Amino acid sequence: MKSMGLIGSFSCIWLVMAISAIAQPSSSPAPVLDSAGRPLQRGVEYYINPAITDNGGRFTLINRNGSCPFYVGQENVSGLDGFPVIFTPFDENETVIRENNDFRVVFSAFTICVQSTAWKLGETDPETNRRLIVTGEDQSRLSTGNYFRIAASAAGDGIYEIQWCPTDVCPTCRFICGTAGGLVENGKRLLALDGSVLPVTFERKA
Ligand SMILES: *[C@@H]1O[C@H](CO)[C@@H](O)[C@H](O)[C@H]1NC(C)=O
Ligand SMILES: *[C@@H]1O[C@H](CO)[C@@H](O)[C@H](O)[C@H]1NC(C)=O
Ligand SMILES: *[C@@H]1O[C@H](CO)[C@@H](O)[C@H](O)[C@H]1NC(C)=O
Repeated sequence: MKSMGLIGSFSCIWLVMAISAIAQPSSSPAPVLDSAGRPLQRGVEYYINPAITDNGGRFTLINRNGSCPFYVGQENVSGLDGFPVIFTPFDENETVIRENNDFRVVFSAFTICVQSTAWKLGETDPETNRRLIVTGEDQSRLSTGNYFRIAASAAGDGIYEIQWCPTDVCPTCRFICGTAGGLVENGKRLLALDGSVLPVTFERKA
């Protein structure tokens, strides 16, 4: 009985040590990992893939209605090229992309549109009341519309959700934050906040 008590208190100490190790105030949240388990790097090209099959293909630029700007969306099926994106953290000294930290994200692509290929919070689709993700520069003072973030998904390791909630850029602002998912419109797969959520993975371009 005595030795049992000893083991019990030892494991109790271990538990306390383990919890305090986890609970240390983390000035740096966990890095977002690519599909090979490596931290996402600033300035490197990544394809964004749906984590679950039958949810469309890679992220790409969508010509929504025959005019500029292009929208952020997905290929209709997996196996098609899509366009890679490049992440630039809001924190100028940060070289990796971390969970729940703001970044700019730009398609590594050229288009016929004058707008840049940076992701931007777009207009609300009147039919679904969902906010679309479009491309272009947000001309407001802090450009909060151009900052997105990545959160870990409960679906598993290396699976993430894309969010708009630029509180690093403006800590005093009150945002109606949102998580991105798919929105099919006339057969085209657009990305939109405020509805279904699309879990994704990040594949470093070879
Ligand atoms: C395309 O969509 C944009 C944004 O909703 C709208 O301003 C424009 O009028 C649309 N163009 C056409 C040809 O439907
Ligand atoms: C997906 O299919 C629709 C309907 O055929 C088409 O209009 C759209 O351009 C396709 N999407 C892509 C990214 O090619
Ligand atoms: C980035 O690093 C420089 C030089 O160390 C420092 O002066 C600056 O305050 C840092 N910026 C941020 C946002 O931490």
